[in-house]
Amino acid sequence: MTRIIKDIDTAVKEIMNGNVIGLPTETVYGLAANALNENAVMKIFETKDRPRFNPLIVHVSGTDAFEMYGENIPDDVYSLAEKFSPGPIAYIVKKKKVIPDITTAGNDSVALRIPSHEMFREVLLKSGVPLAAPSANRSGKISPTSAEDVLSELEGKINYILDGGRCEVGIESTVISFIDGEARILRYGAVTKKEIEDVIGKTVHGNSGKLVSPGQLKSHYAPMTPLYILDDPTELKNIKDNKMGVLDFSVYNNVKEIALNLYSDLSKLDKMNYDIIVCSKVDDEGLGIAINDRLERASSGKVKFEDNEIKIITE
Ligand code: TXA
Ligand code: MG
Repeated sequence: MTRIIKDIDTAVKEIMNGNVIGLPTETVYGLAANALNENAVMKIFETKDRPRFNPLIVHVSGTDAFEMYGENIPDDVYSLAEKFSPGPIAYIVKKKKVIPDITTAGNDSVALRIPSHEMFREVLLKSGVPLAAPSANRSGKISPTSAEDVLSELEGKINYILDGGRCEVGIESTVISFIDGEARILRYGAVTKKEIEDVIGKTVHGNSGKLVSPGQLKSHYAPMTPLYILDDPTELKNIKDNKMGVLDFSVYNNVKEIALNLYSDLSKLDKMNYDIIVCSKVDDEGLGIAINDRLERASSGKVKFEDNEIKIITE
Protein backbone atom coordinates (compact mmCIF):
# COMPACT_ATOMS: atom_id res chain seq x y z
CA MET A 1 0.00 0.00 0.00
CA THR A 2 1.18 3.51 -0.76
CA ARG A 3 0.78 6.10 1.99
CA ILE A 4 0.93 9.88 1.76
CA ILE A 5 2.95 11.09 4.76
CA LYS A 6 4.30 14.34 6.20
CA ASP A 7 7.00 12.86 8.43
CA ILE A 8 10.54 13.58 7.20
CA ASP A 9 12.15 10.89 9.37
CA THR A 10 10.05 8.13 7.83
CA ALA A 11 11.13 9.36 4.40
CA VAL A 12 14.79 9.41 5.43
CA LYS A 13 14.51 5.87 6.85
CA GLU A 14 12.98 4.65 3.59
CA ILE A 15 15.90 6.14 1.63
CA MET A 16 18.44 4.61 4.01
CA ASN A 17 16.73 1.23 3.55
CA GLY A 18 17.54 1.46 -0.15
CA ASN A 19 13.97 2.09 -1.24
CA VAL A 20 12.39 4.69 -3.52
CA ILE A 21 9.99 7.35 -2.32
CA GLY A 22 7.89 10.18 -3.75
CA LEU A 23 9.33 13.55 -2.73
CA PRO A 24 8.21 17.12 -3.42
CA THR A 25 10.48 19.55 -5.28
CA GLU A 26 9.70 23.10 -6.35
CA THR A 27 9.32 21.97 -9.99
CA VAL A 28 7.46 18.62 -9.99
CA TYR A 29 7.37 15.63 -7.61
CA GLY A 30 10.39 13.32 -7.80
CA LEU A 31 10.81 9.59 -7.36
CA ALA A 32 13.92 9.55 -5.19
CA ALA A 33 16.53 7.02 -4.10
CA ASN A 34 20.14 7.05 -2.91
CA ALA A 35 22.10 7.96 -6.06
CA LEU A 36 25.14 6.01 -4.80
CA ASN A 37 23.25 2.74 -4.27
CA GLU A 38 22.94 0.74 -7.50
CA ASN A 39 20.08 -1.42 -6.28
CA ALA A 40 18.11 1.55 -5.07
CA VAL A 41 18.62 3.34 -8.41
CA MET A 42 17.57 0.18 -10.24
CA LYS A 43 14.27 0.36 -8.35
CA ILE A 44 13.66 3.85 -9.76
CA PHE A 45 13.94 2.53 -13.32
CA GLU A 46 11.68 -0.43 -12.50
CA THR A 47 9.04 1.61 -10.68
CA LYS A 48 8.71 4.11 -13.52
CA ASP A 49 9.27 1.60 -16.28
CA ARG A 50 11.93 4.00 -17.48
CA PRO A 51 14.23 3.02 -20.35
CA ARG A 52 17.69 2.20 -18.97
CA PHE A 53 19.35 4.59 -21.41
CA ASN A 54 17.75 7.65 -19.83
CA PRO A 55 20.05 9.18 -17.17
CA LEU A 56 18.79 10.53 -13.83
CA ILE A 57 19.38 13.93 -12.25
CA VAL A 58 21.38 13.77 -9.00
CA HIS A 59 20.07 16.15 -6.34
CA VAL A 60 22.47 17.58 -3.77
CA SER A 61 22.14 20.04 -0.90
CA GLY A 62 24.71 22.63 -1.98
CA THR A 63 27.56 23.53 -4.31
CA ASP A 64 30.06 21.83 -1.94
CA ALA A 65 28.76 18.55 -3.28
CA PHE A 66 29.49 19.52 -6.91
CA GLU A 67 33.18 18.67 -6.43
CA MET A 68 32.31 15.34 -4.81
CA TYR A 69 30.34 14.08 -7.80
CA GLY A 70 31.51 16.20 -10.74
CA GLU A 71 34.87 16.91 -12.39
CA ASN A 72 36.32 19.87 -14.33
CA ILE A 73 33.39 21.99 -13.27
CA PRO A 74 33.50 25.27 -15.20
CA ASP A 75 33.30 28.59 -13.34
CA ASP A 76 30.08 29.31 -15.24
CA VAL A 77 28.35 26.57 -13.23
CA TYR A 78 29.27 28.29 -9.98
CA SER A 79 28.19 31.69 -11.27
CA LEU A 80 24.84 30.24 -12.30
CA ALA A 81 24.47 28.34 -9.02
CA GLU A 82 25.08 31.53 -7.08
CA LYS A 83 22.16 33.12 -8.83
CA PHE A 84 19.71 30.27 -9.47
CA SER A 85 20.47 27.43 -7.00
CA PRO A 86 18.79 26.22 -4.93
CA GLY A 87 16.24 26.31 -7.71
CA PRO A 88 14.88 24.86 -10.96
CA ILE A 89 18.11 24.24 -12.90
CA ALA A 90 20.36 21.20 -13.38
CA TYR A 91 23.99 21.39 -14.58
CA ILE A 92 25.51 18.59 -16.63
CA VAL A 93 29.22 18.13 -16.00
CA LYS A 94 31.75 15.31 -16.23
CA LYS A 95 31.01 12.71 -13.54
CA LYS A 96 33.25 11.25 -10.87
CA LYS A 97 33.48 7.47 -10.41
CA VAL A 98 31.57 7.45 -7.11
CA ILE A 99 28.38 7.92 -9.08
CA PRO A 100 27.42 4.46 -10.33
CA ASP A 101 27.02 4.05 -14.09
CA ILE A 102 23.40 3.01 -13.72
CA THR A 103 22.52 6.44 -12.27
CA THR A 104 23.78 8.22 -15.39
CA ALA A 105 22.71 5.42 -17.74
CA GLY A 106 26.32 4.76 -18.68
CA ASN A 107 27.12 8.39 -19.55
CA ASP A 108 30.37 9.83 -18.21
CA SER A 109 28.48 13.01 -17.36
CA VAL A 110 26.12 13.73 -14.50
CA ALA A 111 23.29 16.24 -14.07
CA LEU A 112 23.55 17.98 -10.68
CA ARG A 113 20.70 19.98 -9.20
CA ILE A 114 20.14 21.73 -5.87
CA PRO A 115 16.37 21.72 -5.30
CA SER A 116 14.81 24.46 -3.17
CA HIS A 117 11.83 22.68 -1.64
CA GLU A 118 12.36 22.68 2.14
CA MET A 119 11.21 19.09 2.67
CA PHE A 120 13.45 17.74 -0.08
CA ARG A 121 16.37 19.68 1.41
CA GLU A 122 15.70 18.22 4.85
CA VAL A 123 15.70 14.70 3.45
CA LEU A 124 19.01 15.44 1.69
CA LEU A 125 20.60 16.82 4.84
CA LYS A 126 19.31 14.13 7.19
CA SER A 127 20.15 11.22 4.89
CA GLY A 128 23.54 12.63 3.95
CA VAL A 129 23.40 11.02 0.49
CA PRO A 130 22.78 12.52 -2.96
CA LEU A 131 19.37 11.62 -4.32
CA ALA A 132 18.70 10.46 -7.85
CA ALA A 133 15.19 11.58 -8.75
CA PRO A 134 13.33 11.64 -12.04
CA SER A 135 9.81 13.01 -12.13
CA ALA A 136 7.45 10.68 -10.25
CA ASN A 137 5.30 9.65 -13.22
CA ARG A 138 5.27 6.45 -15.20
CA SER A 139 7.68 6.85 -18.10
CA GLY A 140 6.30 9.09 -20.86
CA LYS A 141 3.37 10.36 -18.80
CA ILE A 142 2.55 13.73 -17.29
CA SER A 143 4.77 14.83 -14.41
CA PRO A 144 2.94 15.01 -11.05
CA THR A 145 2.68 18.34 -9.24
CA SER A 146 0.95 17.16 -6.06
CA ALA A 147 1.21 14.15 -3.72
CA GLU A 148 -2.21 12.98 -4.95
CA ASP A 149 -0.97 13.06 -8.57
CA VAL A 150 1.95 10.82 -7.57
CA LEU A 151 -0.46 8.45 -5.85
CA SER A 152 -2.60 8.10 -8.94
CA GLU A 153 0.53 7.38 -11.05
CA LEU A 154 2.36 4.99 -8.73
CA GLU A 155 -0.18 3.59 -6.26
CA GLY A 156 0.99 0.24 -4.88
CA LYS A 157 4.47 0.59 -6.38
CA ILE A 158 6.09 2.62 -3.58
CA ASN A 159 5.54 2.70 0.18
CA TYR A 160 5.51 6.45 0.80
CA ILE A 161 4.92 9.83 -0.79
CA LEU A 162 6.07 12.79 1.25
CA ASP A 163 3.44 15.49 0.95
CA GLY A 164 4.92 18.93 0.43
CA GLY A 165 1.85 20.57 -1.08
CA ARG A 166 1.59 21.74 -4.67
CA CYS A 167 4.79 22.39 -6.58
CA GLU A 168 5.40 26.08 -7.03
CA VAL A 169 6.90 26.00 -10.55
CA GLY A 170 4.85 23.20 -12.12
CA ILE A 171 7.21 22.13 -14.94
CA GLU A 172 10.61 20.43 -14.82
CA SER A 173 13.93 22.20 -14.31
CA THR A 174 16.07 23.79 -16.99
CA VAL A 175 18.84 21.35 -17.96
CA ILE A 176 22.07 22.96 -19.12
CA SER A 177 25.15 21.08 -20.30
CA PHE A 178 28.78 22.20 -20.21
CA ILE A 179 30.16 18.92 -21.52
CA ASP A 180 31.41 19.98 -24.95
CA GLY A 181 32.90 23.30 -23.86
CA GLU A 182 29.77 25.25 -24.77
CA ALA A 183 26.77 26.10 -22.65
CA ARG A 184 23.83 24.21 -24.12
CA ILE A 185 20.25 24.05 -22.94
CA LEU A 186 19.05 20.45 -23.26
CA ARG A 187 15.68 21.11 -21.68
CA TYR A 188 13.91 24.44 -21.33
CA GLY A 189 12.53 25.26 -17.91
CA ALA A 190 11.84 28.04 -15.43
CA VAL A 191 15.32 29.53 -15.68
CA THR A 192 15.35 31.06 -19.15
CA LYS A 193 18.08 31.22 -21.81
CA LYS A 194 18.25 34.99 -21.45
CA GLU A 195 18.65 34.81 -17.67
CA ILE A 196 21.50 32.33 -18.11
CA GLU A 197 23.18 34.45 -20.78
CA ASP A 198 22.93 37.51 -18.54
CA VAL A 199 24.88 35.69 -15.83
CA ILE A 200 27.61 33.99 -17.87
CA GLY A 201 27.95 36.74 -20.46
CA LYS A 202 28.01 34.42 -23.46
CA THR A 203 25.66 32.87 -25.93
CA VAL A 204 23.80 29.79 -24.78
CA HIS A 205 23.19 27.23 -27.52
CA GLY A 206 20.34 24.82 -28.09
CA ASN A 207 20.76 21.12 -28.64
CA SER A 208 23.55 20.38 -31.07
CA GLY A 209 21.93 17.25 -32.38
CA LYS A 210 24.62 14.94 -31.16
CA LEU A 211 24.31 16.11 -27.59
CA VAL A 212 20.71 15.39 -26.80
CA SER A 213 19.08 14.41 -23.59
CA PRO A 214 17.68 10.93 -23.99
CA GLY A 215 14.72 12.12 -21.94
CA GLN A 216 13.93 14.72 -24.56
CA LEU A 217 12.61 12.29 -27.10
CA LYS A 218 9.48 13.38 -28.84
CA SER A 219 6.21 12.08 -27.45
CA HIS A 220 6.83 12.70 -23.83
CA TYR A 221 4.75 14.16 -21.04
CA ALA A 222 1.75 12.77 -22.85
CA PRO A 223 -1.84 12.44 -21.60
CA MET A 224 -3.86 9.32 -22.52
CA THR A 225 -6.35 11.45 -24.45
CA PRO A 226 -4.78 12.77 -27.67
CA LEU A 227 -3.85 16.44 -27.31
CA TYR A 228 -3.89 18.70 -30.37
CA ILE A 229 -2.51 22.17 -30.82
CA LEU A 230 -4.86 24.61 -32.48
CA ASP A 231 -3.16 26.53 -35.25
CA ASP A 232 -5.14 29.73 -34.77
CA PRO A 233 -5.39 30.36 -31.01
CA THR A 234 -8.28 32.83 -31.41
CA GLU A 235 -10.49 29.92 -32.50
CA LEU A 236 -10.24 28.25 -29.11
CA LYS A 237 -13.21 30.22 -27.75
CA ASN A 238 -15.44 28.96 -30.60
CA ILE A 239 -15.09 25.33 -29.70
CA LYS A 240 -18.22 24.08 -28.01
CA ASP A 241 -18.30 20.35 -28.22
CA ASN A 242 -18.88 18.10 -25.26
CA LYS A 243 -16.53 15.46 -26.60
CA MET A 244 -13.69 17.90 -26.75
CA GLY A 245 -11.72 19.12 -23.76
CA VAL A 246 -10.18 22.58 -23.96
CA LEU A 247 -6.92 23.32 -22.20
CA ASP A 248 -7.64 27.00 -21.75
CA PHE A 249 -4.85 29.30 -20.60
CA SER A 250 -6.89 32.48 -20.88
CA VAL A 251 -8.02 32.03 -17.28
CA TYR A 252 -4.48 32.74 -16.11
CA ASN A 253 -2.79 36.10 -15.67
CA ASN A 254 0.72 35.26 -16.83
CA VAL A 255 3.05 32.49 -18.04
CA LYS A 256 4.11 31.66 -14.51
CA GLU A 257 0.55 30.76 -13.63
CA ILE A 258 0.21 28.78 -16.85
CA ALA A 259 3.33 26.72 -16.04
CA LEU A 260 2.08 26.19 -12.51
CA ASN A 261 -1.24 24.77 -13.71
CA LEU A 262 -0.21 23.13 -16.99
CA TYR A 263 0.24 19.52 -15.86
CA SER A 264 -2.54 19.53 -13.27
CA ASP A 265 -5.06 20.98 -15.76
CA LEU A 266 -3.95 18.52 -18.42
CA SER A 267 -4.24 15.57 -16.09
CA LYS A 268 -7.71 16.70 -14.93
CA LEU A 269 -8.89 16.91 -18.55
CA ASP A 270 -7.28 13.57 -19.23
CA LYS A 271 -9.54 11.92 -16.64
CA MET A 272 -12.76 13.27 -18.22
CA ASN A 273 -13.09 10.83 -21.10
CA TYR A 274 -12.99 13.36 -23.91
CA ASP A 275 -12.22 12.15 -27.43
CA ILE A 276 -9.53 14.76 -27.79
CA ILE A 277 -8.12 17.75 -25.90
CA VAL A 278 -7.22 20.95 -27.75
CA CYS A 279 -4.96 23.78 -26.67
CA SER A 280 -3.09 26.70 -28.15
CA LYS A 281 0.52 27.67 -27.67
CA VAL A 282 1.63 30.70 -25.67
CA ASP A 283 4.03 33.47 -26.76
CA ASP A 284 7.35 31.82 -27.53
CA GLU A 285 9.57 33.77 -25.13
CA GLY A 286 10.98 33.30 -21.63
CA LEU A 287 9.06 30.67 -19.68
CA GLY A 288 6.71 30.42 -22.67
CA ILE A 289 9.43 28.51 -24.56
CA ALA A 290 9.40 25.79 -21.89
CA ILE A 291 5.59 25.66 -21.90
CA ASN A 292 5.41 25.36 -25.70
CA ASP A 293 8.10 22.68 -25.61
CA ARG A 294 5.99 20.57 -23.22
CA LEU A 295 2.85 21.14 -25.32
CA GLU A 296 4.68 20.01 -28.47
CA ARG A 297 5.90 16.86 -26.78
CA ALA A 298 2.54 16.07 -25.23
CA SER A 299 0.63 16.63 -28.45
CA SER A 300 -0.31 14.29 -31.26
CA GLY A 301 -0.24 17.08 -33.84
CA LYS A 302 -1.86 20.27 -35.06
CA VAL A 303 -5.49 21.00 -35.86
CA LYS A 304 -7.51 23.79 -37.43
CA PHE A 305 -11.09 24.84 -36.80
CA GLU A 306 -13.09 24.93 -40.04
CA ASP A 307 -16.85 24.85 -40.74
CA ASN A 308 -17.44 24.33 -37.02
CA GLU A 309 -15.29 21.25 -37.08
CA ILE A 310 -11.86 20.31 -35.93
CA LYS A 311 -9.60 19.07 -38.71
CA ILE A 312 -6.19 17.53 -38.31
CA ILE A 313 -3.51 19.33 -40.26
CA THR A 314 -1.34 16.90 -42.13
CA GLU A 315 1.86 18.37 -43.45
O1 TXA B 1 12.65 19.37 -12.25
C1 TXA B 1 13.28 18.33 -12.40
O2 TXA B 1 14.39 18.28 -12.93
C2 TXA B 1 12.63 17.02 -11.87
C3 TXA B 1 12.68 17.06 -10.33
C4 TXA B 1 12.20 15.78 -9.71
O3 TXA B 1 13.98 17.38 -9.90
N1 TXA B 1 13.33 15.89 -12.37
C5 TXA B 1 13.23 15.51 -13.67
O4 TXA B 1 13.94 14.36 -13.96
O5 TXA B 1 12.57 16.11 -14.48
P1 TXA B 1 13.67 13.53 -15.31
O6 TXA B 1 14.47 12.28 -15.14
O7 TXA B 1 12.22 13.40 -15.53
O8 TXA B 1 14.34 14.40 -16.41
C6 TXA B 1 15.75 14.55 -16.43
C7 TXA B 1 16.20 14.98 -17.80
C8 TXA B 1 15.99 13.89 -18.82
O9 TXA B 1 15.62 14.52 -20.04
C9 TXA B 1 17.38 13.25 -18.91
O10 TXA B 1 17.58 12.63 -20.17
C10 TXA B 1 18.27 14.46 -18.72
O11 TXA B 1 17.61 15.26 -17.76
N2 TXA B 1 19.60 14.10 -18.18
C11 TXA B 1 19.90 13.69 -16.93
N3 TXA B 1 21.21 13.39 -16.83
C12 TXA B 1 21.76 13.62 -18.05
C13 TXA B 1 23.07 13.48 -18.60
N4 TXA B 1 24.10 13.05 -17.88
N5 TXA B 1 23.26 13.80 -19.91
C14 TXA B 1 22.22 14.23 -20.68
N6 TXA B 1 20.97 14.39 -20.21
C15 TXA B 1 20.73 14.08 -18.92
MG1 MG C 1 10.38 13.21 -16.42
